[in-house]
Amino acid sequence: MGIRIIGTGSYTPEKVLTNQDLEKMVETSDEWITTRTGIKERHIAADNQITSDLALEASKNALEAAGIGPDDLDGIIVASFTVDQLLPATSCILQQKLGVSNKCLCFDMQAACSGLLYAINVADSMLNFNPGINRMLVVGAEKLSSIVDWTDRTTCVLFGDGAAAIVLESTNDTDEDCMVSSNLGADGNYSNILQIPAGGTAMPMTKDALDQKLNCIKMEGQETFKLAVGNMVASCKKALDDAGVTIDQVKWLVPHQANYRILKAVATRLKMPEERVYMNVDRFGNTSAASIGLCLDEMARGELVQRGDYVLLTAFGGGLTWGAVLLRW
Ligand code: ACO
Repeated sequence: MGIRIIGTGSYTPEKVLTNQDLEKMVETSDEWITTRTGIKERHIAADNQITSDLALEASKNALEAAGIGPDDLDGIIVASFTVDQLLPATSCILQQKLGVSNKCLCFDMQAACSGLLYAINVADSMLNFNPGINRMLVVGAEKLSSIVDWTDRTTCVLFGDGAAAIVLESTNDTDEDCMVSSNLGADGNYSNILQIPAGGTAMPMTKDALDQKLNCIKMEGQETFKLAVGNMVASCKKALDDAGVTIDQVKWLVPHQANYRILKAVATRLKMPEERVYMNVDRFGNTSAASIGLCLDEMARGELVQRGDYVLLTAFGGGLTWGAVLLRW
């Protein structure tokens, strides 16, 4: 048994916010943002566009690429920490918007920026061990602009909105299996360095919390940077060791697009040449759970990957969570 990718899709909102635009909003500069993060612009959803709308467009593209209809799906997982609402799951809302009428299973996955990798792993298990589940839609979708404090220059320059979707199918042909190895990790001891304080049971949303912008993302940047690099590198090395594959055999390293300096540090420590590290952080910023999927869709549509190529995905996010997945395309 195994799974294969039969289609990818992505969507980013029309509106583009450039570093020059941000210069007019907070005390920052294109030069500071570019040298510290590599980000030049990011896409921002319209006020009336919610996370499931972004997920819908990416999912339609992925289904079209896979050549299947909504009712061919046996399950939908949406990875996001900017869900439409706390209840119901955004995956259920997406199911309705996609017009899936077969009552397939739906649930959301919250592992911040590692969400897509967590969701791929769960889908892999379900596709392999549940005979009634043959095709699953895995989506990473975020409207991060909704939880950004647009007066806080230390975070507002980093994030963007977007969605990406992957259709996975079970296969009896082990040669077709795209999951070569994977590992996931988390360390709740660092839950305070990347968080949205208000909106849950710990701190319900009150007027006071809103006035203090406690509904927005708070981050200790330097601590996050250090932990991101160390954990992604260790996770990638484990995925390679477990598979008996060397970094030289990997066609593409696809890290979560947090910022250019993190990507470069991970690549250097893995001894991966920069030209084989896929990057689009300059155009989209950090789109959290969507970022790796945005890369994969560009790579698939641009024919940058061929069947049999090794592609190493790695992510890191709030929680803290991290992981690596070695794919054979
Ligand atoms: N423009 C201009 N100056 C700024 C800006 C800005 N946008 N932001 C911060 N500064 C200032 C600070 O106030 C500080 O000034 P000071 O020295 O007078 O106090 C100075 O720049 C340096 O600030 P640092 O925070 O030390 O800057 P650093 O070099 O660490 O870069 C950054 C900040 C880019 C956030 C970096 O720490 C980083 O990349 N961290 C990782 C963040 C990340 O990737 N998070 C996401 C992962 S998980 C998830 O996606 C949910």
